Amino acid sequence: MAAASVSAPPARQFRDEFPIFRHAIYLNSCSLGPLSRRSRIRVAEYLDLWERRGAAAWYDVWWAALGELRERYGRVVGAEAANIALHPNISGALSAVAEALDYRTRPKVVVTGLDFPTIAYQWLAKAGEGVEVQLVESADGVQVPLEQIERAVDSRTALVATSHVFFTSGAIQDVAALAGIAHRKGALLLVDGYQATGQLPVDVRRLDVDFYCSGGLKWLLGGSGIAFLYVRPELVTGLAPRATGWFAHREQFLFDPRRLVPHDDARRFEAGTPAMASVYAQLGGLDVLEQVGIEAIRRATMALAEDLIERAREAGLACKVAATKEARSGIVMLSSADPPGDVRRLGDAGIIVDARPGHIRVSPYFYNVPDDHLALVELLKS
Ligand SMILES: Cc1ncc(COP(=O)(O)O)c(C=O)c1O
Repeated sequence: MAAASVSAPPARQFRDEFPIFRHAIYLNSCSLGPLSRRSRIRVAEYLDLWERRGAAAWYDVWWAALGELRERYGRVVGAEAANIALHPNISGALSAVAEALDYRTRPKVVVTGLDFPTIAYQWLAKAGEGVEVQLVESADGVQVPLEQIERAVDSRTALVATSHVFFTSGAIQDVAALAGIAHRKGALLLVDGYQATGQLPVDVRRLDVDFYCSGGLKWLLGGSGIAFLYVRPELVTGLAPRATGWFAHREQFLFDPRRLVPHDDARRFEAGTPAMASVYAQLGGLDVLEQVGIEAIRRATMALAEDLIERAREAGLACKVAATKEARSGIVMLSSADPPGDVRRLGDAGIIVDARPGHIRVSPYFYNVPDDHLALVELLKS
């Protein structure tokens, strides 16, 4: 029986924190995390400061908020604040890395066919500079076997750039193994963790990753406009991004156009003024996540994913997910003959999911309950 093994999520009470549940069943956190009350309160706080103090708020409160966010993003991935650079989105964080590497003797970057395309685009855009992208395809659309990635990495490879969790199958990659593959050949490893942080415990030191990026949009409940890049401390001072700005300057308030002296921490990967409303929204989202706890979230999300898969299969719906429970995350792909039609039909009934080619993408998180799946599957069956 589906759901029998699903205990109540550790934080059922947190459902009240997300007003969207008053009128909808939200199962689309992997596209956009829902707005929490705490994010709304924190953004209102920012707006009040802007209204009351104007630019004066920069020098104490807003500056401190940026430091707080670097520190709390650091905690999300097991890093110090000094190893975190803020960016407005993943593409910006990736381009800071792309502009920091030396491709002269290692012109190749290895990506996979299941990664979010903005990863590959950073290096496809450099074809004119002799950068080659080697894309390792997935046979099943779920995973990419490590042996195939290993075969692609050689002494000409500068970087392996891939996902922690694939956005289109929810499969979790073995990042520590990928780090071993890259490092044995003298290459670096960059991991896009947009679909991982929040729903999975992450420890960048244990994973031995060189660059790790993520942000607020999805499981970190911070909305759009705020992301981050972790840079391995030992690499920082040896890299000088060519995509840059005054926030990368060690003494930015000297306003010296003659010399660029980059920070000696990860802030040298930053560029310009962050979107403060997004920073505040993210601080509110992190308040919620820290209260629930990432380990508890992983347990709840794992149980919910299994419940959904079981219910869907019992109803005769095919699921595209990783083979083992441990390699699955809170993204479940259900096959559909008409994904946009199904998403519309579900939306009309107040159930919010997403469409991908051939599938609807359902992403339960700690505030979902098995009854949400029941409603979804019933409607899909009908
Ligand atoms: C894994 C992954 N990376 C990156 C992105 C998007 O990146 P950006 O923040 O540049 O829009 C998404 C989806 O929005 C994603 O799922």
